[in-house]
Amino acid sequence: MGAKSCHNFGDFRALAKRRLPGPIFHYIDGAADDEITYRRNTAAFDDCDLVPNVLNDVAEVDMGVEVMGQKLAMPVYCAPTALQRLFHYVGERGVAAAATKYGTMYGVSSLGTVSVEELAAMAPGPKMFQFYFHKDRGLNDALLERAKAARFDVMALTVDTITGGNRERDLRTGFTSPPRLTLNSLVSFATHPMWALNYLFREKFDLPHLSDHVSTGTNLATSIGDYFSTMLDQSMNWKDAENLCAKWGGQFALKGIMSVADARRAVDIGCTGIMVSNHGGRQLDGSRTPFDQLAEIVDAVGDRVDVVCEGGIQRGTHILKALSVGAKACSGGRLYLYALAAAGQAGVERALGNLRTEIERDMKLMGITSLSQLSRDNLRFRRS
Ligand code: LAC
Repeated sequence: MGAKSCHNFGDFRALAKRRLPGPIFHYIDGAADDEITYRRNTAAFDDCDLVPNVLNDVAEVDMGVEVMGQKLAMPVYCAPTALQRLFHYVGERGVAAAATKYGTMYGVSSLGTVSVEELAAMAPGPKMFQFYFHKDRGLNDALLERAKAARFDVMALTVDTITGGNRERDLRTGFTSPPRLTLNSLVSFATHPMWALNYLFREKFDLPHLSDHVSTGTNLATSIGDYFSTMLDQSMNWKDAENLCAKWGGQFALKGIMSVADARRAVDIGCTGIMVSNHGGRQLDGSRTPFDQLAEIVDAVGDRVDVVCEGGIQRGTHILKALSVGAKACSGGRLYLYALAAAGQAGVERALGNLRTEIERDMKLMGITSLSQLSRDNLRFRRS
């Protein structure tokens, strides 16, 4: 089976599982503790049903949205994720090019494997930088300056990784960045020779935003949980977020807001966006899902800040449900990462194309020609 026969999220996941060494697949696929929140992130959408209208002339539909000042041709974008060259040798280059081709935004992580300068030059579309607040203040300043100089459009401060989540699959497989050559990992690399050859003989693994400042993650292997716990500043507080927002001076979002109280504070410190997110279930297991929590956050701050629903998105209908509640857009990591692992840039393009086709079809079946026609009137929650 190739990427051309991947019709949905599950197909790409299955192909990624075949193509990737076990520790790398499980790093993407895994989440915290019992992975209950991770599963629930998607299942939450099933507790709510769409109620369509008909006979509305849907010959032409427009799925464009505007979020945090960015005009996107589709209502879903590629959330920033770390370490992409481990999943496919094109890494962030493939994701950025595919997103730009589809007129949507791509995110680049502080833990990215291709530099912001290179990406901005090759993929000029809307782009977001994902900031991790480190203990090393020199590193923090450098991250901000580089993203600003490369003209990134949106700065997103990650606020849900104050310590590492308990990712037991990574503990079991021994996944580290860079991959550590243990007996186990060598066996999994040997059984995935294409991946291993690309990893060994293409450009050397690097985290270009970090490696001038810290060797952890590049020359010193670390698990991502340990990276968060040891390198990030656990004393980070609202004042730090406010200072960063002021220093950035442009579109600024907090990524990983879940409570109404925090959403209100985000508005108070000057944010223009928030991602309602639990980091793909990878941090606090047992926490509520973005979709379940969306309505109360939109009700509290939706008129003052752009609310993005991030996590669990696998289908066009998930996106229509989130937008009906009041999200301005949706984003996700795994929704393009399995596709990247499966087939590089072509895979990401196909994943985005599949979503675009689904959204267009779903809009027509819902009887709408513009996403602004969605509202809670076209939703019914089963448990309310
Ligand atoms: C993770 C980080 C790096 O969840 O976003 O692994």
